[in-house]
Amino acid sequence: MLFRNRFLLLLALAALLAFVSLSLQFFHLIPLSAASKNGVSSKSRKRIMPAPVTEPPVMDPVYEALLYCNTPSVAERSMEGHAPHHFRLVSVHVLIRHGDRYPLYAIPRTKRPEIDCTLVANRKPYHPKLEAFVSHMARGSGASFESPLHSLPLYPSHPLCEMGELTQTGVVQHLQNGQLLRDIYLKKHKLLPSEWSEDHLYLETTGKSRTLQSGLALLYGFLPDFDWTKVFFRHQPSALFCSGSCYCPVRNQYLEKEQRRQYLLRLKNSQLERTYGEMAKVVDVPTKQLRAANPIDSLLCHFCHNVSFPCTRSGCIDMEHFKVLRTHQLEDERERREKKLYLGYALLGAHPILNQTISRMQRAAEGREEEIFALYSAHDVTLSPVLSALGLTGARFPRFAARLIFELWQDREKPSEHFVRILYNGMDVTFHTSFCQDHHKRPHKPMCPLENLVHFVRRDMFAALGSGSTNYYDACHKEEF
Ligand SMILES: *[C@@H]1O[C@H](CO)[C@@H](O)[C@H](O)[C@H]1NC(C)=O
Ligand SMILES: *[C@@H]1O[C@H](CO)[C@@H](O)[C@H](O)[C@H]1NC(C)=O
Repeated sequence: MLFRNRFLLLLALAALLAFVSLSLQFFHLIPLSAASKNGVSSKSRKRIMPAPVTEPPVMDPVYEALLYCNTPSVAERSMEGHAPHHFRLVSVHVLIRHGDRYPLYAIPRTKRPEIDCTLVANRKPYHPKLEAFVSHMARGSGASFESPLHSLPLYPSHPLCEMGELTQTGVVQHLQNGQLLRDIYLKKHKLLPSEWSEDHLYLETTGKSRTLQSGLALLYGFLPDFDWTKVFFRHQPSALFCSGSCYCPVRNQYLEKEQRRQYLLRLKNSQLERTYGEMAKVVDVPTKQLRAANPIDSLLCHFCHNVSFPCTRSGCIDMEHFKVLRTHQLEDERERREKKLYLGYALLGAHPILNQTISRMQRAAEGREEEIFALYSAHDVTLSPVLSALGLTGARFPRFAARLIFELWQDREKPSEHFVRILYNGMDVTFHTSFCQDHHKRPHKPMCPLENLVHFVRRDMFAALGSGSTNYYDACHKEEF
């Protein structure tokens, strides 16, 4: 009897714990990823991304590739816009990677995958706003874009995709992102007045058609049938979004060392070398030439679009090859985090865009109603350094249509106090950042004070480099190596 009572008590305790853990997750007092993990190591607990129930316990290259494809499916969960009632949303800053695209390189001597980049309703994935998007873009030819953006097509249109072209999947991904942000930021939090003007937005994109089109798709999902005269996209010549302060010799030195690390890791992987050799034999070119064509980029496109891998008369490239290449990529990312050379590169590379973002936040915090929705349409090589610089070591490599969002909030009860939240692909990662890691232990502050981010960007990120610099210019020119 006693035994049975104790058992019931344990059961009740377990139920209570489960409930508490669930509520903590719900109110995101503790990050979801940390709570849902089995706690094998601190590394895996810090893993940020989706953590769906099916996530395998060990690194699975095929599962990781599926996440990377980010094929649109039913509603995903997202934590954007979650805040206590007495907080007011002041501004939102969105950094995206372009959506799904056709490969940048072809595998030598093989037929390129037959993927249709026209936008049509009877093909999956589909979005209810797809046709309206196309007709709206068709009316946008007189729109004002900063040179040379006006020479780019506003939506993809080739029956056989061109290299690097955005696909229908890519458009749908960003229509979805835009609609999700619309539901949260416009409908729920009324970020923009209904009579918004050009000054409320800040839009910037690199000069590729896929980034401009991704930005437009997101904007269309966010502001359907927007007035073309109120939309102005600026052109960013650098993938690091550093225009005006791109010259940074120390950053380049870090990058060279990082590339050397990458090269040495590759040499150590005999299975990888053997696999490149086998694949080169299939397509009958020297191994070096095959490697230079970056075959994993093409193979990921085959994989994401469910198109079988290329074959020749000598055989086929197959799933085993794909797995070896992907596994190596994942190992490379892991070593990259441990060796910290990339962190040096990332801190300097991400400074200009973070600096730009906090300046915009500070102006909004002062009550200026300008640029309260900022969109930077960018690349994996833009997001990746920003994630590392923020200290988000558990973040996965930016998938297609990845989104990193900075929200600025004001405490209505203490209007001089402003806070930030940071979200990566819908997950609240605020308390994973290096400048707000321990903050959630203080339950009366449910977000990260804006000053933490400001001090980090203006001062502490240089200290993290360890060269004794206190500003960007010094840190970029310090003779350290
Ligand atoms: C992928 O293609 C194969 C045939 O080529 C088909 O049987 C399968 O259902 C497809 N999978 C998906 C997810 O579309
Ligand atoms: C950072 O932002 C401030 C304020 O906008 C600006 O004066 C400064 O030049 C920026 N620094 C860099 C390195 O971009």
